[in-house]
Amino acid sequence: APRIAQFKLVLLGESAVGKSSLLLRFARGVYEDNRESTIGAAFLAQNVRLEPDLVVRFEIWDTAGQERYKALAPMYYRNANAALVVFDLLSQESLARAQSWVRELRVQADDGIIIALVGNKLDLLNQLKAESPNSSGKIGISEDAKSYAAEAGLLYYECSAKTGENIEAVFKGVAEKMPIN
Ligand code: GTP
Ligand code: MG
Repeated sequence: APRIAQFKLVLLGESAVGKSSLLLRFARGVYEDNRESTIGAAFLAQNVRLEPDLVVRFEIWDTAGQERYKALAPMYYRNANAALVVFDLLSQESLARAQSWVRELRVQADDGIIIALVGNKLDLLNQLKAESPNSSGKIGISEDAKSYAAEAGLLYYECSAKTGENIEAVFKGVAEKMPIN
């Protein structure tokens, strides 16, 4: 039997950026166009095979992004080994919210926490680029996020829960950073 290394992972980010959608795409391979907003938080465990005989088991807390649940977040990121801080690639405001989550994690979460900044809804960004390649505004959010992640020393991914593009890479990338000994 493979060795199983277990870690706690938390999903944070503004409401409607697609946290639940990207988790369900990853764990269940499904996607719904009109998901209901998460109430409180949801829990799910999912394995990532890193090597033939090594499995990383993530115990995942999918938090609710609505402002009224904000005070609950510390319960979920406490003792977390990893955080996916998600934003919508077409929403500057959601990137600002993600940056504020990163600041909070840096102060309140475990020192060794691995943080990945994850831009979701890549399908919509690609669509916008195809339709209006010269409209710099919303397309530029991705560039801002990328340079912020580099400066802040975060992993950075762009993905689409809708198409599934890059979803595996997010969890695989984070799994590879886990302190397995
Ligand atoms: P809260 O639970 O309120 O914090 O929101 P959330 O971050 O979990 O967002 P959720 O997964 O519920 O998705 C919000 C909406 O965005 C839903 O209608 C999804 O169908 C849509 N959505 C999520 N991911 C994508 C994506 O990759 N592309 C597109 N086009 N829509 C997406
Ligand atoms: Mg949700």
